Amino acid sequence: MSRLVVVSNRVAPVEEGKASAGGLSVAVEEAFTGIGGLWFGWNGKIENSTPAQVTMHEGKRFARATMPLSRKDYNEFYAGYSNSTLWPLMHYRLNVMNYSRAHAEGYRRVNELFANNLTPLLEPDDLIWVHDYHLFILGRDLKRRGLKNRMGFFLHTPFPPPDMLKACTEHEEIVRALLDYDVIGFQTENDARNLLEYVRRIPGGTVRGNRATAFGKSSRVQAFPISIHPEEMARTAARTVNSNRARQLRRSLGEKQLIIGVDRLDYSKGLDNRFSSYERLMENYPENRGSVTLMQIAPPSRGDVQSYKEIREKLEGMAGHINGRFAEFDWVPIRYLNKSYRRDVLAGFFRIAKVGLVTPLRDGMNLVAKEYVASQNPEDPGVLVLSQFAGAAAEMDGAVIVNPFDEEGMMDGLQSALRMSREDRIERHQSMMEILKRNDLQRWRRRFLDALRTPRATSDRAGAD
Ligand code: UDP
Ligand code: G6P
Repeated sequence: MSRLVVVSNRVAPVEEGKASAGGLSVAVEEAFTGIGGLWFGWNGKIENSTPAQVTMHEGKRFARATMPLSRKDYNEFYAGYSNSTLWPLMHYRLNVMNYSRAHAEGYRRVNELFANNLTPLLEPDDLIWVHDYHLFILGRDLKRRGLKNRMGFFLHTPFPPPDMLKACTEHEEIVRALLDYDVIGFQTENDARNLLEYVRRIPGGTVRGNRATAFGKSSRVQAFPISIHPEEMARTAARTVNSNRARQLRRSLGEKQLIIGVDRLDYSKGLDNRFSSYERLMENYPENRGSVTLMQIAPPSRGDVQSYKEIREKLEGMAGHINGRFAEFDWVPIRYLNKSYRRDVLAGFFRIAKVGLVTPLRDGMNLVAKEYVASQNPEDPGVLVLSQFAGAAAEMDGAVIVNPFDEEGMMDGLQSALRMSREDRIERHQSMMEILKRNDLQRWRRRFLDALRTPRATSDRAGAD
C-alpha cells in the first residue's frame, strides 16, 4: 500500500502528552493510527538558518519531518498572509482582514520552500494529503517540480462565497492552484458549494456532480466533515472524571452548575458575545447568581497578530467587569483561564459541566463541540449549546442551536439548557452519539483517502462515498 504523507503548517508537538490546541493537529495525529506515514511541516520555531534544516523524528506511530521558519517568513507568511489575510477571509471577517503585497510574496516564497524541502523526501507512489489555508498553492508548486503523485487538499476552516473571496487580490491564483489537487475536501456542503459557485461564475468553468473543471484542470470537490473517536473520548472522560484535577474542580464548585467553554483565544470563536450573553443571563435570570459558574479555557493563540492582541485585551476587561459586577465573597461568575490543558484532562472537565457552550461566529467544524458530547455521562448528560455557524451544527441535531450575534437569544438558549429535563437531555445525547459513531474520525480519513486513490472515471458521481 502507498505511504501516506501529510503536509500542514502546524505539526503536533513531538513531546508525548503535550496539549495540542488546534483541531488540525489533534485530528491529523489521530488519522495516522494504524497506517503510519510521514508528517511534514513547520516545527513552530523561528530560526534564521539558511537553508532551513529539515529534521527527521522517527516516532512509534509515524515519522515527522519538520523545519523552522526564518523571522521574515514567520512575519510575512504565518503572521501575515496566513493569519492576517486568509484566516479572517475564510471566517467572513473582512473587517479584520489586512492585506499587503509583501505578505502575498512571503506566502508564495514559503509554499515554494515547503515544496523544495518536501520533494526529496517523497516516493513516486506516496499519497500526498495537504492541510489548510497556509498551503493552498503547495500542490501547484509540487507539480511544477515534476511530481506525479496523487495529491489531495483538505480545508479545516470555512470557505467563503465568491464575492467575499474576491476581497483577496490573489483569489484567482488560489482557486487555480487548488485545482491542481486531485481532491479538494471541505468541512461542510456549504463550503464545497462556495468553491463550486466560484468555479462556475468567475472563470466560467463547469461543474458536473462533484467535479469542477476550469483553467484547463479538474478536481473532485466534496465535503468530508471531520470528527473524533467518540467511544475513546467517552472512555477517557469516564476515567479522568475521577482524576485529582477533576475532583478538585468538583469540590471547588460545590452545588453550583458548571458551564464550560474551551477555545483558542481567537476572535472567530465569539467569546466576547458569549461573555455578554452570560452577563445578560445573570442580569435577567438572577436565580443563576451564586448557583452557576462559567469556566472559559482560552489558551492564547497567534499573539503576534494585532487583532489577537485586541481580543485578548477586550476579554480580560469583560471578565473583570462581569466578575466585579456580580461576584460574592464565595462565588465568581466567570473563571477565565488563559492556558491550555491536555485533552484527557478536558474530557473529565467536560463530563462535570452541565452545559458545553460553543458559540463561534464562524467555524470550520469545531471539534470541542463533538468532544463535549462524547464526554458526557449517558445516564445524566449535559447539554451542548451550539452556534448555528459552526460546521458541527450540520450534524449535532440534539444541541440547543443559537445565533451568536443575538445575545438575548443566546441567553435564552443557556437558560433552557440549564433547566432541561433529564429525559430530554438523554434523548438529545443519544441522538448525537449515534451520529458521532456513524461518522467518526476513522471514517473521515477513509472517505478522503478512498476518494484520493480513486481514479477520475469512477469518482464523478455527486455524493460518491
Ligand atoms: N484543545 C486542547 N487543549 C486546550 C484547548 C483545546 O487539547 O487547552 C484541543 C481541543 O480538545 C480540540 C482542539 O484543541 O481537539 C481544538 O479544535 P477545534 O476544532 O475546536 O478548534 P480550532 O482550535 O481548530 O479552531
Ligand atoms: C486551526 C487551524 C489550524 C491551526 C490551528 C492552531 O485549527 O485550522 O491550521 O494549526 O488552528 O493555530 P496555529 O496558528 O497555532 O497553528
